[in-house]
Amino acid sequence: MIKDIYIHIPLCSSKCLYCNFLSYRSSVKNTSIFLKGLKNEIENNKEILNPKTLYIGGGTPSILKDKDLEFFIDILSVNKLIPDNGEFTFEVNPESFKKDSILALKYISLNRISIGVQALNNKRLSFLGRAHSVNDSVNCLKYIKKINIKSISVDFIYDLPGDNPKIIEIELKKIIALSPNHISAYSLTVEKGTKLFIDRDKYSFPTEEEQIENYYKVIEVLKEYGFNQYELSNFSKSFQHRSKHNTHVWQGKDYLGFGPGSVSKIKNLRKINITTLNNYSTGNIKHKTEKLNKIQLKEEKLIVNLRRVEGMRRSFLSNENTEMLKHLEKEGFLILYKTRIKLTDKGKLLTNIIIFYLSKMI
Ligand SMILES: C[S@@+](CC[C@H](N)C(=O)[O-])C[C@H]1O[C@@H](n2cnc3c(N)ncnc32)[C@H](O)[C@@H]1O
Ligand code: SF4
Repeated sequence: MIKDIYIHIPLCSSKCLYCNFLSYRSSVKNTSIFLKGLKNEIENNKEILNPKTLYIGGGTPSILKDKDLEFFIDILSVNKLIPDNGEFTFEVNPESFKKDSILALKYISLNRISIGVQALNNKRLSFLGRAHSVNDSVNCLKYIKKINIKSISVDFIYDLPGDNPKIIEIELKKIIALSPNHISAYSLTVEKGTKLFIDRDKYSFPTEEEQIENYYKVIEVLKEYGFNQYELSNFSKSFQHRSKHNTHVWQGKDYLGFGPGSVSKIKNLRKINITTLNNYSTGNIKHKTEKLNKIQLKEEKLIVNLRRVEGMRRSFLSNENTEMLKHLEKEGFLILYKTRIKLTDKGKLLTNIIIFYLSKMI
């Protein structure tokens, strides 16, 4: 039985300039089509009783209006998708945050909120094409703290044009001052298919060397303020605030995704829901399915395990090349322990190269 569930709400008020996640305009019509489709998709799946983690992501889950949220909560409760004693996460965007909605979700045991703050500077927000202001984020965070949601995470994007360690330190300290207990910090990637990609030549983005310095600064500042890094981009005040849902995914556990654009992993299959919104409500759901062979499964596990600060078990390498490992250690990319291998900060920046070498040993 699968114990980790993700629901993708592919609705947004507008499209951010850097984003290539699947999302549609959150019109009344699109919302109604989506919710009907979601009900069908979930009711037709019998594998999902009593999950340990439920992650509602997007898109913009907080965009659902009162009636739609009520309908959504009904789908969750009728189908027993709300974890009894587990982790229940909901993503909130500051522009669409509604106090009543958060209270309604808290009532049904919501215990983790991830807020898409991204920046606490209106110029940065406007560069990213975000639909909210700094004030919106501050108000949203203050309220969520006030009503005692156990885990509060903030997403932050850096490596914007002109970013340097000083600017990043200032931004991070503003976020820390709002007292979240978890921060996800992402280096901006210019993805194909986005407005930012079309306009990329207008800007001067940090070079690779500058990105390395910026990343070191992120790690340094967050460490100074008591945030422990437990994954390349994820930092938590204590163990209990780590994302259990994402940790399970990084551990290579199976998970089930619902909604257009969602991904599932079941044993050796990776399924991407490629249904368009129009087909979704008719129940005509399409998946792109990829069958992973033994080596691919091991490689996936290697990648997700290396991203965690606990690193990977050495016994996972069935064909260990000790000379190569010692070389990588000497170059400062990793640390070899008796039973585990962990990346150094330098190694965290160059995971692709390290994975390339380690994958030859599995
Ligand atoms: C799937 S997004 C959804 C979150 C929510 N809709 C929002 O916009 O805040 C999850 C996170 O990924 C990060 N992200 C999305 N696109 C990115 C990009 N091109 N580069 C870096 N981070 C990105 C953002 O920090 C975002 O909060
Ligand atoms: S970044 Fe978030 S809010 Fe912006 S378009 Fe993408 S999913 Fe929607």
